[in-house]
Amino acid sequence: MQNKNEKVKLRIEPLGKELNVNIGTPLKDIIFEYGVEFPCGGKGYCGGCKIKLLSGDVKDPQKHKELIYKLGLDSDYRLACISEIVEDITLEIPQLESLILADNSVFTFTPLEGFGIAIDVGTTTIVAQLINLSTSQVIDVQTSRNPQTRSGSDIMSRIMHGLTKEGLEELKNLIRDEAYRLITLLLEGKNVDLKKIVLVGNSVMHHLFCGYDVKPLSMYPFETTNNESKEYSAKDLSWELKNSVQIIFARPIASFIGSDIFAGIIASGMDKTPHLTALIDLGTNGEIVVGNNEKMLCASTAAGPAFEGANIHMGMSAMSGAISSVNLADSQIDYHVIGNQEALGICGSGLIDAVAVFLQNGSLDAGGALIREKEQLEIGDRVYLTQKDVREFQLAKGALAAGLQILVNKLDKSLADITRVFIAGGFGNFINLKNVTQLGMVEIDEYKIHKLGNSALIGAKMLLFTDDYSFENTLSKIEHLSLDADENFQDVFVDKMFFNNY
Ligand code: FES
Repeated sequence: MQNKNEKVKLRIEPLGKELNVNIGTPLKDIIFEYGVEFPCGGKGYCGGCKIKLLSGDVKDPQKHKELIYKLGLDSDYRLACISEIVEDITLEIPQLESLILADNSVFTFTPLEGFGIAIDVGTTTIVAQLINLSTSQVIDVQTSRNPQTRSGSDIMSRIMHGLTKEGLEELKNLIRDEAYRLITLLLEGKNVDLKKIVLVGNSVMHHLFCGYDVKPLSMYPFETTNNESKEYSAKDLSWELKNSVQIIFARPIASFIGSDIFAGIIASGMDKTPHLTALIDLGTNGEIVVGNNEKMLCASTAAGPAFEGANIHMGMSAMSGAISSVNLADSQIDYHVIGNQEALGICGSGLIDAVAVFLQNGSLDAGGALIREKEQLEIGDRVYLTQKDVREFQLAKGALAAGLQILVNKLDKSLADITRVFIAGGFGNFINLKNVTQLGMVEIDEYKIHKLGNSALIGAKMLLFTDDYSFENTLSKIEHLSLDADENFQDVFVDKMFFNNY
């Protein structure tokens, strides 16, 4: 039997990263943190996640070879989405070397001189990529945990901490210092002519980085006037870079819809297509955008926190130690832990699966109540769900489904008119779309739903090739709606909290 603590070496090119990982760790668990996308959601048929073996091999080479042959790739390629690390291995990730995949098509760009850095400032994680602007090639990637998490993992505690002058200053410095640290790591030992840095993030991250007052974001009607792209020189930020480097934190769309969502819109291509498209970001605020190249409506729902682990008894974000998927195998509960280690808690994708499994095995009724007088629902490795966790999930899924329904109604369309749905968000790559539809989180046929991975990062890369950071053209087509203000919202919301498919 494999020892979970036995380590092997994983070397990733062209990043030159060497990591010690537990034997049996799915490769996907590791490389998604570096911004690698899984266009078909890890189903093994698109080949977008292909990796080239430079030494060593992954588990089950024969199965890979058959798929690789069908995809017309050379025999030294494997698919990252189905690869498990079982020995020392060196691999190359072509996706980081070639054009960016978005919407299953190639992102087109006008080549520019020099290099740029795209940074996704997430509430939990920060990802920074160094890009060659003449080819759009990813040269290096750095990721880290947002150091502000020490003042609370959820967005509300960050806002509360930022309400005092000292707290705001502290959070501003923490995020600026961390972004600069990642930038210096990206540039270390490389002789590159850095031209531009684009940062994206939710409105709170935008405000904290810029040092803007977060009080308006803490209370009704949650409106702020600081919704502009902010441009800095290196000197403004006390960063030791050439002063000619253009540094931009891209503007939020509206008070609670950040530039991470704007970047997602661009990455999904929904602003370019006449077909009705939806973008759902299951990050902090559970933002939804519905529309096409003529008009887009967006709203934030209260769906985010539960899927990020907040308010869930054993909830955590999608990182090592989180149960990321749960299923029933021969009536027994089976689960996967990110990083192939002992479970420490459960992340959003695991929560979705766990609720689906407990509905299937009769531990929950269609109203979400625990039956047979159980006090808690055991998943394994001492991780369990409580009745309150299930209720939190129902509130989140009700808010999400109601939000989507209201936006579609406002456009005088129906859910069936939507041709594509893109799911973005930290745990998007792990999410089981069948459960998402069956639980009624997204009431749209599964075949129309696609995982977009870190859409904020893809969009930030694309924004490196832009000049106009007012985004006037695209923003003029986007309208923000406050769901609370919709007279039908409460009724629709209550209706959508039930599990009608079970
Ligand atoms: S084959 Fe499509 S993501 Fe791996």
